[in-house]
Amino acid sequence: MKNLVVLTGAGISAESGIKTFREMGGLWEEYDVMEVASPHAWENNQELVMRFYNERRKKLLEASPNEGHIGLVELEKYFNVHIVTQNVDDLHERAGSKNILHLHGELKKSRSTIDPNLIYEISGWELKTGDKCEKGSQLRPHIVWFGEAVPAIAEAADICEKADIFVVVGTSLNVYPAAGLIDYAPNGIPVFLIDPNDVGTKNTEITFIKEKAGTGVQKLIGFLKEKSGSND
Ligand code: OAD
Repeated sequence: MKNLVVLTGAGISAESGIKTFREMGGLWEEYDVMEVASPHAWENNQELVMRFYNERRKKLLEASPNEGHIGLVELEKYFNVHIVTQNVDDLHERAGSKNILHLHGELKKSRSTIDPNLIYEISGWELKTGDKCEKGSQLRPHIVWFGEAVPAIAEAADICEKADIFVVVGTSLNVYPAAGLIDYAPNGIPVFLIDPNDVGTKNTEITFIKEKAGTGVQKLIGFLKEKSGSND
């Protein structure tokens, strides 16, 4: 089977009721990113950072995967699907996708502040001051903050280099290094971009499906099936 690599961003979870970041009404309009999602923020106001992610976690517990996430699972019937996501939600997992790489961490997990290898599931929505790892240090959200390295980027680049088909869903392609992954897709392979709004990219070979994720992924499936001559 061919390798189909999907790079997803906040837009794929929008129809599940999770806010995106950079649109009107998005999270970075409501919050100053450096005050809630940076090492500086953690040093200066741990309570605010904790509250910000606790709120996000609460919303996530109320949310369910939408047609976009579910459509990507359907594609596993025809392709080796690899999802590389910038999202910290677990909606790809809950939809049933098999291969998921989180670039920016996972909202439902916490991490030790002295040993980054100590990662824990958070039960419920709340992470609190005083919650400690087994070595006795405060736990922090398992999120890659602005100004921090993205440990999964090399693995993500490897996955993208092996793509036969590359799909981008619901990302403004503003945040590097994630946005640069599209450049690892081999030259000449089909590249699709699903987004209801215009997204700036220098790749001119892209097939732009200007739809929300739910409808857009269905259109993509139809298109790929038609190309392969499948009657399923
Ligand atoms: P953005 O908020 O920058 O972009 C969201 C994209 O989703 C935009 O291009 C929208 O047009 C599109 N969109 C909106 N509704 C959609 C829908 N129903 N279906 C499909 N697309 C839709 O979010 P990201 O690109 O994911 O990082 O942001 C990247 C990173 O910046 C995030 O991972 C986060 C943020 O700061 C961290 O917090 C570390």
